[in-house]
Formats: sequence, structure tokens, C-alpha cells
Amino acid sequence: MYEFAPTPGQSKAALYGDLIDAARAITHDEPDAVANMANCAALLAQFLPDLNWAGFYRMVGGELVLGPFAGKPACIRIALGQGVCGSAAATGETQLVPDVHAFPGHIACDAASRSELVVPVKRDGTVIAVIDLDSPLIDRFDAEDAAGIEALARVLADRL
Ligand code: SME
Repeated sequence: MYEFAPTPGQSKAALYGDLIDAARAITHDEPDAVANMANCAALLAQFLPDLNWAGFYRMVGGELVLGPFAGKPACIRIALGQGVCGSAAATGETQLVPDVHAFPGHIACDAASRSELVVPVKRDGTVIAVIDLDSPLIDRFDAEDAAGIEALARVLADRL
């Protein structure tokens, strides 16, 4: 049994520090990408408040394909450049979207989603997956969230 948990009242920086320590520990010496993504999706859902979806899309054959996640069933395949996830994968850049209704081409997998953060996971400069977080709150994510998830993506780069 794993006993990872956020500490009530901790700063966002401390929260991401603990989340990343937990992700590092739970993926250590485990080569199976599905197991590692599944555990990290569970950690994201457990540690980060006000999310309705947290998980992975993987680059498979030149498009994004749904990976392990926590949340409602989601669209399975996303073309590069389409939606928030496809934009992150195509540009290799983090996409922080304060209001998904104002993002042209946003793909609504869960009608409750109002803001979104998508961070590419890169290995040797190539996007191999994206981490996708959705919130039912407008403007849920800030630069600290982006930096925290980018740090997680760096930890996972050689563990997916
Ligand atoms: N909203 C995403 C699609 C994936 S779901 O949020 C899980 C997008 O626009 O790419």
C-alpha cells in the first residue's frame, strides 16, 4: 500500500514538491509505461484540488491516443494541432487555457471543464505524451501549476 497524500494548507510549491517526490518514488525502477501513467494520473487526481480530469495522451503513429487517466471517459484520438492537447503536442509548448470556451478548437470531453493545462512530455526533444488537467473552475491554473507539471513531465520523460 502506498500512503502518499498532500498536507492540508501547504503552499502550492510544497504541494508540487510532494507530488513530484511521490511520482518519482512510485515510478522508480518500474519500466512499464502504462503502470507509471496510471499511478501518476491517480496521484494528480489525489493531490490537486478542483480537477474533473487528469491523465495522459500518448503519441502513437503521429497522433495522440488516450492513455491512463482519472475522470470521465474521454475522446480517444486527437490529431496534432487539434484542441488544447493537439496544440501542446504540435508546438511542444505548455498550453495554459484560463477559459476553454475562449480557446478556438477546444475539444469538450467533459462539459464540466472550464479551464485546462496541457504539458508535453519530451524525450530527447521529441514529444512522447502530454499530461492533461481539466478543471470545472475558470482560471484554475497559473504559472506555478504549469511549472509544477513541467517538472513532473521531466521526471517522467524516461519512465513512459
Ligand atoms: N480538452 C482537450 C481534450 C481532452 S479532454 O480534456 C480529456 C483538448 O481540447 O485537447
